[in-house]
Amino acid sequence: MSQPETTAELPSPREESLPPPLITLTKCALRPIHPLDAPAAQRACNSPAMAKYMTYRFPSPYTLEDAHRFIAFVSTLRVPGYPDIKPSMAICDPVTNELIGSIGIKLKEDIEEFCFELGYSLREEDWGKGIMTEACRAYCKWLFETYPKVIRLEAGVFGGNDGNDGSARVLEKCGFVHEGTKRKAVTKHGQVYDLRMYGLLREERERLE
Ligand SMILES: CC(C)(COP(=O)(O)OP(=O)(O)OC[C@H]1O[C@@H](n2cnc3c(N)ncnc32)[C@H](O)[C@@H]1OP(=O)(O)O)[C@@H](O)C(=O)NCCC(=O)NCCS
Repeated sequence: MSQPETTAELPSPREESLPPPLITLTKCALRPIHPLDAPAAQRACNSPAMAKYMTYRFPSPYTLEDAHRFIAFVSTLRVPGYPDIKPSMAICDPVTNELIGSIGIKLKEDIEEFCFELGYSLREEDWGKGIMTEACRAYCKWLFETYPKVIRLEAGVFGGNDGNDGSARVLEKCGFVHEGTKRKAVTKHGQVYDLRMYGLLREERERLE
């Protein structure tokens, strides 16, 4: 006796795809970061030139495991009081939706809870095309709109000889104010840098236009 033919279909594994853009711009789009971004994040971040002006927490070389760890961390990060909103964003190619960089915040605590510290990076092959200026402007506007209690955005940039002039320029083009410089505040691989402090207040947000 032959076995009856079974026509029942096995349940197919749930197909996963990258989230659609939340903010579509001219040179890039912003959307939440997803575990499927890990290979693109690893390729983007595995760059000594990118690591140069980051803290030691940014690994170099940057492995796929590092990318998964980063994505797991930013996927759970939330601003207190906003459990449904992921504050970190992937910067994506506006056509392919592929991750080409990221932008996010570090939450400050205690008496600084209404101040967010900004962090961002873009893959090396896309530097100098105006992408981060566009992404940073849109992201900072989104932060002020999304989190009404936030008073201030800030960022610290390696300064002095051989400092991160590109990042300083991005912030200046976005309207951030250079508020001062902490002299010789940073040492990275034996090289000493100043730390240029930039800030943008809620009441100055029209400078983002
Ligand atoms: C810094 C970084 C974000 C700049 O992004 P980007 O998309 O290349 O910046 P933009 O193209 O928007 O450029 C903005 C301005 O900076 C200038 N600029 C960019 N890179 C520069 C550099 N290395 N030196 C001097 N100026 C630079 C551009 O000419 C432009 O100014 P302009 O319009 O007056 O000509 C990018 O190089 C990067 O990801 N670096 C590694 C990570 C990093 O340093 N993150 C910031 C830590 S604080």
